Amino acid sequence: MSILKIARMGHPILLERSKTLNSSEIASNLELQKLIDDMVETLKDSGGVGLAGPQVYADKRVILAMAPQSDDTSHGNTEFTVLINPELEFRDKEQELGWEGCLSIPGLRGAVPRARKLIYRGFDRTGRSVEAEAEGFFARILQHEVDHLDGILYPMRMTDFRHFGFDEELARIEREAAYETEESIE
Ligand code: NI
Repeated sequence: MSILKIARMGHPILLERSKTLNSSEIASNLELQKLIDDMVETLKDSGGVGLAGPQVYADKRVILAMAPQSDDTSHGNTEFTVLINPELEFRDKEQELGWEGCLSIPGLRGAVPRARKLIYRGFDRTGRSVEAEAEGFFARILQHEVDHLDGILYPMRMTDFRHFGFDEELARIEREAAYETEESIE
């Protein structure tokens, strides 16, 4: 396994629509299997929560998303959902704003409106078809990663650029605000 180089915003591969994989050949596609292993290693190394093919210069519809942690025993154990040829269905129009960052846009984050709930479909790495519901942060990661496959980066989904900035700066201001709240309680 190897850690792959991550494409940064400005590279044209991040603006292209990635190619659909032949779903009947997923398990036997050794190139794809190696790519998935390398993407898992790359994502673990980066400390991110999701990764899409074009971010590692692979023109393939494959994404990884950090799976929701349902219990405390999984603490520290990073599990990723692997989806090939993912599709999202939105039955609910409800959207919410939430902070997002991107390994292809290091150091920045922004508030992006996303559907709170969705149904996702696709194939796992053994070639089995998958269909499930997602909500909250996991649903947000899926939307962000599927967008990558369509050449869309999160700033292109933003509606209010006042909520866009350097992570260090935003984190410092949040820390100060939390400190002030604490002081006023005493
Ligand atoms: Ni991203």
